[in-house]
Amino acid sequence: MTRIYFNEVVTRDGFQIEPGFIPTDSKVALIDALSLCGYAKIEATSFTSPKAIPMLRDADEVMGRIQRVAGVEYTVLVPNLRGAERAMEAKADELNLVMSTSETHNLSNLRMTRAQSFAALAGVVRYVDGQTPINVSLSTCFGCPMEGDVPQADVLAIARRFADHGVRGITICDTTGMAHPVQVQRMVEALQAQLPHTQLTLHFHNTRGMGLANILAAVQAGITRFDGSLGGLGGCPYAPGASGNVCSEDAIHMLDAMGYDTGMDVTKLIQLARQLPQIVGHEVPGQVAKAGRITDLHPAPADVNALRGLAS
Ligand code: COA
Ligand code: ZN
Repeated sequence: MTRIYFNEVVTRDGFQIEPGFIPTDSKVALIDALSLCGYAKIEATSFTSPKAIPMLRDADEVMGRIQRVAGVEYTVLVPNLRGAERAMEAKADELNLVMSTSETHNLSNLRMTRAQSFAALAGVVRYVDGQTPINVSLSTCFGCPMEGDVPQADVLAIARRFADHGVRGITICDTTGMAHPVQVQRMVEALQAQLPHTQLTLHFHNTRGMGLANILAAVQAGITRFDGSLGGLGGCPYAPGASGNVCSEDAIHMLDAMGYDTGMDVTKLIQLARQLPQIVGHEVPGQVAKAGRITDLHPAPADVNALRGLAS
């Protein structure tokens, strides 16, 4: 049975775009509960500028207060050297560096050209000097909401440059849900062929309803690591039209039903997803938490039983 590994991003990608500040206590309690669900990794927060991402301005406190569970890696998003210093101080298990494959989105999100971002992040890799594993999340790999097409060759070239710098993993992000399954298959086949020693993760948003189809296309092409967000929350505040990530419990429920080994406790996940509307103050997009699992059946109406009696 193929093992699939999930990285939960709700308290980072999910909470960064919420209109109201989620109290630190709620973030810590949610991460602690998620730690008991079977995740390989949890992206707990981001060490970004508090002016750029005010919702995650409590990152240092969150990292200091969570109960770390053995076997779960606690990763954090890092845009620059200052973020890396804070992440190392907080003893993150992994630094998830970020830049965009689209020049316009990189300027909007990180206020740097791609060349400036690459140089800054190469400096971070040197600063970390192998003490902590590094992943790089590349935004807008399947299209930019401002520029449109992002050539696959650009994504491959940037990914290769980071791999040559010795990073452990690369996450290919569909920041505003522009990917479709055929494009995903093409992209991951090329990446796996060119970077056979790099841990590849796929990060989808369900903005146009293609999230689960894209996960399936990636799994069928050999990808085993995915980001997901509880309840389907999420989005980049600097990507126009961004909306939620592919919903963790929906994706995991689908893969479990298909016979993949996700190592996840879906019952616990659904319980947590059902608490989310109270935490964020609004409905969330996830579907399985509303509908129940495919094994959660309903009693037949009494008249059906009566009809059965008549028929026998
Ligand atoms: N952590 C905390 N503070 C930081 C910081 C970090 N990682 N990086 C910069 N700052 C502070 C600086 O100290 C400075 O503070 P001051 O105004 O009190 O002096 C201020 O932020 C501006 O610093 P500067 O280096 O000029 O950054 P900038 O304004 O050009 O912003 C980024 C660049 C990358 C820091 C900022 O755009 C950012 O954090 N973006 C993250 C976007 C993001 O997470 N998007 C969603 C995920 S894809
Ligand atoms: Zn995202």
